[in-house]
Amino acid sequence: MRYSGDIIEEVRARNDIVDVISTYVNLKKSGSGYKGLCPFHNEKSPSFSVSPSKQYYHCFGCGVGGRVYTFLMQYENYTFTEALKYLADRAGIKLPEGEMTEEEKRKASLKQRMYDMYKAAAVYYYYQLYNSPKGKDAYKYLKDRQLSDDIIKKFGLGYSNVNGGLFAYLKSKGFNDGVLMQSGLFSMDEKRGAYDKFWNRVMFPIMDINNKVIGFGGRVMSDAKPKYLNSPETLLFDKSRNLFGMNIARSSRRKNLIICEGYMDVISLHQAGFDNAVASLGTALTGMQANLLKRFTDNILVTYDSDEAGRKAAMRAIPILRDAGLSVKVINMKPYKDPDEFIKNLFASEIHPLLYF
Ligand code: UTP
Ligand code: MN
Repeated sequence: MRYSGDIIEEVRARNDIVDVISTYVNLKKSGSGYKGLCPFHNEKSPSFSVSPSKQYYHCFGCGVGGRVYTFLMQYENYTFTEALKYLADRAGIKLPEGEMTEEEKRKASLKQRMYDMYKAAAVYYYYQLYNSPKGKDAYKYLKDRQLSDDIIKKFGLGYSNVNGGLFAYLKSKGFNDGVLMQSGLFSMDEKRGAYDKFWNRVMFPIMDINNKVIGFGGRVMSDAKPKYLNSPETLLFDKSRNLFGMNIARSSRRKNLIICEGYMDVISLHQAGFDNAVASLGTALTGMQANLLKRFTDNILVTYDSDEAGRKAAMRAIPILRDAGLSVKVINMKPYKDPDEFIKNLFASEIHPLLYF
């Protein structure tokens, strides 16, 4: 879908560059413009300037510069269309839908309902974690795994209760059976009717790169099997094209991305300050995931589990990453099992091998 020059210009004009950049950079008035520390390189004295009259930014230190679209493309790694959509939304401008067929319109609106539904489900699970009696066990589980409230919130972790309840909740929010049954979150039984698939698990929302919930992984809190249950692929959820944590890692200031195997590894790394960690979604790494990584970086650190399965998975991932034009280093997690254990054992100590990459 292409947008006209007029609409691009209108969206730009309705988003003042100083306002937009101020949400990312602490700007101070200086002469006729504003100055701040450049978000694109490390510096101690401000050489990043924003001009309200020209609606332009420029860094005298590293040479970056452009208009509001360029800023978002550089800072958020948005594509032009993503930047346009973000700014249109911010200014309350409705972008033209263009020439969509009836079928396309129906699909777009179903997709939107599905996004809304997953978001509501994530809110419900999060609420259960903090506000239900059984949720306390799940909360304790996360605490025993040394997760802070901040990180629980950042990843939107939740709890699927023993008595289900999500189906009734979403019905009460006005989602119809059609949308609910396509979500993959419920099963149907002649006797019981529809019921929640996730039951008594810690819930990990899976988000796309635009922070939209598209699926869930749910972990048991015991040694029962399966350890993780993942929601199935849907209209929104393509496991081969998304990466857990990429919504956050995309705006990391680090120059590389860390790919690991597990949700818990990602969360543990983020908590330790490695906000550049991501994981695939219970399946082997794909070429499309490698291309996604390449949009944001040229350098990958592979930190798969140190067991034989992890070693084999790393050997398979390397050529896929290289084919996407990425340069790859593998970090041996031994003697630790995985990045989660690695971080827990080494983070507090002086030796922090990840810092050397
Ligand atoms: P792990 O078993 O290593 O899990 O599987 P983990 O994320 O490190 O979690 P903890 O620390 O043991 O709690 C790695 C990934 O493989 C997928 C999940 O995506 C998981 O994060 N997986 C694993 C499943 O989809 N199903 C399973 O039963 C197990
Ligand atoms: Mn693991």
